Amino acid sequence: MPKRIYLSPPHLDGRERELLLEAYDSNWITTLGPQVDAFEREISARTGVSHAAAAVSGTAALHLALLNLGIERGDEVICSTLTFSASANPIIYCGAVPVFIDSDHETWNMDPALLAEELEDCSRRGKLPKAVIAVDLYGQCADYDRILAAASQYGVPVIEDAAEAMGATYRGRSAGAFGVMGVLSFNGNKIITTSGGGMLLSGKKSYVDNAKFLSTQARDPAPYYLHSHIGYNYRLSNILAALGRGQLEHLDAIIAKRRTINKYYRDALSDIPGVTFMPEAAYGRSNCWLTCIMIDPKLFGASNEDIRLALEEENIESRRTWKPMHQQPVFAHCRVRGGTVADEIFSRGLCLPSGTGLKEADLERIVKIVRNVAVHAAHSLTNLSQLRTSE
Ligand SMILES: Cc1ncc(COP(=O)(O)O)c(C=O)c1O
Repeated sequence: MPKRIYLSPPHLDGRERELLLEAYDSNWITTLGPQVDAFEREISARTGVSHAAAAVSGTAALHLALLNLGIERGDEVICSTLTFSASANPIIYCGAVPVFIDSDHETWNMDPALLAEELEDCSRRGKLPKAVIAVDLYGQCADYDRILAAASQYGVPVIEDAAEAMGATYRGRSAGAFGVMGVLSFNGNKIITTSGGGMLLSGKKSYVDNAKFLSTQARDPAPYYLHSHIGYNYRLSNILAALGRGQLEHLDAIIAKRRTINKYYRDALSDIPGVTFMPEAAYGRSNCWLTCIMIDPKLFGASNEDIRLALEEENIESRRTWKPMHQQPVFAHCRVRGGTVADEIFSRGLCLPSGTGLKEADLERIVKIVRNVAVHAAHSLTNLSQLRTSE
């Protein structure tokens, strides 16, 4: 069996090892230290957001963002429905209730028109949500001009979940820079990784200061341990921050490679009837974290799941697109506005291997397998109709 091709494995080929050893040798083997400080400064410089707090994960950073806004039991928080559950889970950690919004066809991200409708209804009912979490799906920014305009009309703060979108841009500005706070993830499968890690970004220093306070067990200034708030152990390790710094140095090369992979798939598969790609909106530049295709089984002759299984048979990992949050048993009690666009993307979508370590031969293999599924489907259709004619 050929070596397994993973969906989006880590790819460390810069100074990661050197910086990791520097952190090791410095004996800052803890959740603070020069690597954490430098990583925060460098992420700030890269994203153009003045303040940053490194956290153990993107999920923790999202939780800190909600805590900063004082989200509590009984509050409602609006969230994109087409996303990973980590976008919505922190709402539950706060005891609040998620309200989901469908995607639009053009970007697969939160539909700004549906957000405006939901906010109008909430306002009419006299209970506005306390925040909106807009997700930048698969490395493409949501339409922030429209999302921020809709939310600001009702004074509702927006948090940008840019976990998948480090290095992407929207009208020339970096992902993570929109709304009152932005969140990045450095999970092992993300565009850059610290194995596990995340970052809270904000132009407002008090949000970032408070996140650092809460994420280090909320220790009040005193000569002994004094706590007037419930704290969390959410701060990123100095060792892992070193890895992140090494990764950040070649972010542009990583994005260029992901975009090349995306183009390769587009060039190689677009001519097949029933295959389409996640659209790239004209307002920005995606980091192409994962290349996603949509399969129309009537035209293609087989389904996204058939392709996934065919790839798996050859030891190649692909993944179905996110199953929308409003379809998840754990969120079954939550309100959703729209939902059919996200449902369709889930039922027809597939994420193809997109890691920066992919070689041309790997891509050729993947494309061949996808094309073969279509060819086999066409053959079985022909055989079936011949059988019917001869009956
Ligand atoms: C959209 C989205 N939000 C949040 C997260 C959570 O990030 P982390 O895994 O770093 O907690 C992820 C990924 O894991 C994600 O894809």
